[in-house]
Amino acid sequence: MINKKDKKLLELVNKELTRQQDGFEMIASENYVSENVLRVMGSILTNKYSEGYPGKRYYGGNEYIDEIENLAKDYAKKLFGVTHVNVQPYSGSPANQAVYFALCKPGDKVMGMNLLYGGHLTHGWKVNFSGKYYQSIQYTTDENGFLDYNAIEEMVKKEKPKLIFVGATAYSRIINFEKLAEIAHDSNAFLVADIAHIAGLVAGGVHPSPVGHADVITTTTHKTLRGPRGAMIMCSGDESNPTQKIDSVIGWRESKQNIPTLIDRAVFPGLQGGPHNHITAGITQALFEADTEEFKEYAKQIVKNASVLSQELSNNGLRIITGGTDNHLILIDVGPFNITGSQAEKSLEKALITVNKNAIPFDTRSPFDPSGIRIGTPALTTRGMKVCEMTQIAQLIVRVLKNYNDEKILESVKSEVKKICKKFPIYKKIKY
Ligand SMILES: Cc1ncc(COP(=O)(O)O)c(C=O)c1O
Repeated sequence: MINKKDKKLLELVNKELTRQQDGFEMIASENYVSENVLRVMGSILTNKYSEGYPGKRYYGGNEYIDEIENLAKDYAKKLFGVTHVNVQPYSGSPANQAVYFALCKPGDKVMGMNLLYGGHLTHGWKVNFSGKYYQSIQYTTDENGFLDYNAIEEMVKKEKPKLIFVGATAYSRIINFEKLAEIAHDSNAFLVADIAHIAGLVAGGVHPSPVGHADVITTTTHKTLRGPRGAMIMCSGDESNPTQKIDSVIGWRESKQNIPTLIDRAVFPGLQGGPHNHITAGITQALFEADTEEFKEYAKQIVKNASVLSQELSNNGLRIITGGTDNHLILIDVGPFNITGSQAEKSLEKALITVNKNAIPFDTRSPFDPSGIRIGTPALTTRGMKVCEMTQIAQLIVRVLKNYNDEKILESVKSEVKKICKKFPIYKKIKY
């Protein structure tokens, strides 16, 4: 067996490890997985083909893979209180694609949150498949950045979409899934809740769950849920009962199918081939970790940290969209400091604070250099940072943004950042 190490590659991986250790990872969609998640992801499970589902595979030798996939499903069912789970989608975008593929036909009218107001590409944005293959209508926020449930209701009544995506990439407030389900179901539309960003908060009990309200729930597994890059599609309700709604809403397909069956068929064989078994194992481990008191504490701390950070930044003159946050992320207008989102992202990066530029609601600038940045606390909280560090971090962010052209100041913030990070090490034993 060839067993040579590519030195160049390992050098790069080690450099990335150092970057992750030494800086503040404040991208709201990122996190640090546990060493146990890493271990199973780097395991021999990657060697196996298992197209199909447990007990119904197209390849032999899947005795243990079946058990692993079933374990992942059982853990997800317990953690989220759902009756059906598909853990095979390769990532969040393919999971969402599978939902459209399962419940709509090309050209159907679908509705989602506009990307520039916090929605995801796959919620109907014009350059994405969801905006190209479906007739997409998009809702925005109100002028203060909050979801406008009345405006959404009016749009649904008028436009009668077949499927409505809710959930966001850059929205810092509680989402009222119950209200959204009422709106969707009154107009006989499917409600899909994409909880990619908040899955860990839902699992930890610090954000209301869409279970029992949304017809389908999608999530990535690598954000607040702190698992590997992957995704799940979940449904609640009675699996054995093909609903009336399916017949009436998607009568173009064979009737007598329930939502879980349509979803499973859309994932495989509709869109994908063999599942990534090493990732399924990583998801299993992450779900196991998420079903603990420790994780509940973690979820609470994420929100507490974000709230303190938001308050401190606001006290220092930055405009926080919606005036604060209920979850793990903060959307900030950096305009008051006379800089752009790109300038903020670049200067913070020089000081080892990683964030991303982001459009803010009703942004007057281009999405390529918008007025805002998005920051989050999930990764810093995983390191063990608490409110005391958040106060310090807010000061450091403000110092960078106020002096974004001053290399000396950026250097001094960088060394402060490194010093704080040293006190909160991650991956103590890992070296490639
Ligand atoms: C709300 C939401 N849905 C879906 C996705 C897509 O996930 P992925 O990048 O894994 O395709 C993201 C990613 O940021 C997201 O924020």
